Amino acid sequence: MAGQGATMRALRLAAFGSWRDLRLVSVPIPEPDAERGVLVRVQAAAVNPVDLKTCAGRPADPGLADRLPLTPGYDVAGEIVRDAGEGDLAVGTRVCGMVGFPSAPGGFAEYVLARPDEVVAIPAGVGDAEAAALPLVGLTAWQALFEHGGLSASETVLVTGGAGGVGQQLIQLAHAAGARVVATASARNAGLCAALGADRVVDYTSESLTAVDERIDLVVNTVTAVDDVLAMPGVGDHTRRVTLVSLPGDADALRDFFGSRPLVHPDATVLAHLLDRVARGALRSRVVVEAPLGQAERALALVDAGHAGGKALLRPAD
Ligand SMILES: NC(=O)c1ccc[n+]([C@@H]2O[C@H](COP(=O)([O-])OP(=O)(O)OC[C@H]3O[C@@H](n4cnc5c(N)ncnc54)[C@H](OP(=O)(O)O)[C@@H]3O)[C@@H](O)[C@H]2O)c1
Repeated sequence: MAGQGATMRALRLAAFGSWRDLRLVSVPIPEPDAERGVLVRVQAAAVNPVDLKTCAGRPADPGLADRLPLTPGYDVAGEIVRDAGEGDLAVGTRVCGMVGFPSAPGGFAEYVLARPDEVVAIPAGVGDAEAAALPLVGLTAWQALFEHGGLSASETVLVTGGAGGVGQQLIQLAHAAGARVVATASARNAGLCAALGADRVVDYTSESLTAVDERIDLVVNTVTAVDDVLAMPGVGDHTRRVTLVSLPGDADALRDFFGSRPLVHPDATVLAHLLDRVARGALRSRVVVEAPLGQAERALALVDAGHAGGKALLRPAD
């Protein structure tokens, strides 16, 4: 029960190194304050690559170096147990959100604080797992396609890393918008990408993108090894481009092509819209593993391996 002096279980990182340095410890339940007034009891928390990068000393916010020891985790679903502010959502409401991104993570724990504008109500019929799996990847994909990429119907978008957490959202949202989708994935994930709405899947392990002879209006890149994008016959000055990953320091041409990397930002309106699509069966968030905090390595190692094929979740209440 949340209250003054009460404790909770949380995964804690004492110093940057690796996700393997995370330890399950007992810490005070965080106290809501004026900015982060909502206390959520976490039912499910999704693991994203950014959480592993944080543990490795490459956080999205360099200021996290001054906040060690810290608990990673941005994507959560759970129940509001206290609201010390003036949020619209009542205690007891099931909510999900990308909380504290990038400067105040904490989702890999039994309780986490959130700003009222970071969490939205989970519609009836949507489970905690699906809800936790959605915010960071869904918002990233939406913002890449429509805010940065300006995608419109009947255009063609190239999605690299189509089988990833972000890639699966990119394919579905672009397809639903009426765009043609070309995606890269390993052969074993080709069927998954096609089922989500990819019109053409290129197996990056055996085929070059240069074999794709069609006009590309937008590239949304989620992987680092994408040199062959530059040599695609349908890619040129007309091609808008968004990279969600930092590109290797020695890949000058690729870095010049993509330019700066946008960072996802919270957006309650878009998140509510995406959740509504999930509730209607028009958007899927595919969960591949769920592990209690005490067995977190099952979820963390899967994301670390880079081929999870969906979202890996922690279940702090289990
Ligand atoms: N800028 C931002 O705000 C932002 C937001 C979210 C994520 N990101 C970044 O975006 C990246 C992807 O995130 P994610 O959550 O989608 O990761 P993920 O779920 O681990 O997926 C990674 C995917 O990459 C694919 N892949 C690996 N090498 C590939 C290659 N050479 N060509 C094509 N696909 C390849 C894998 O597909 P196969 O299994 O088919 O091999 C895997 O499914 C991460 O680096 C993450 O940090 C950035």
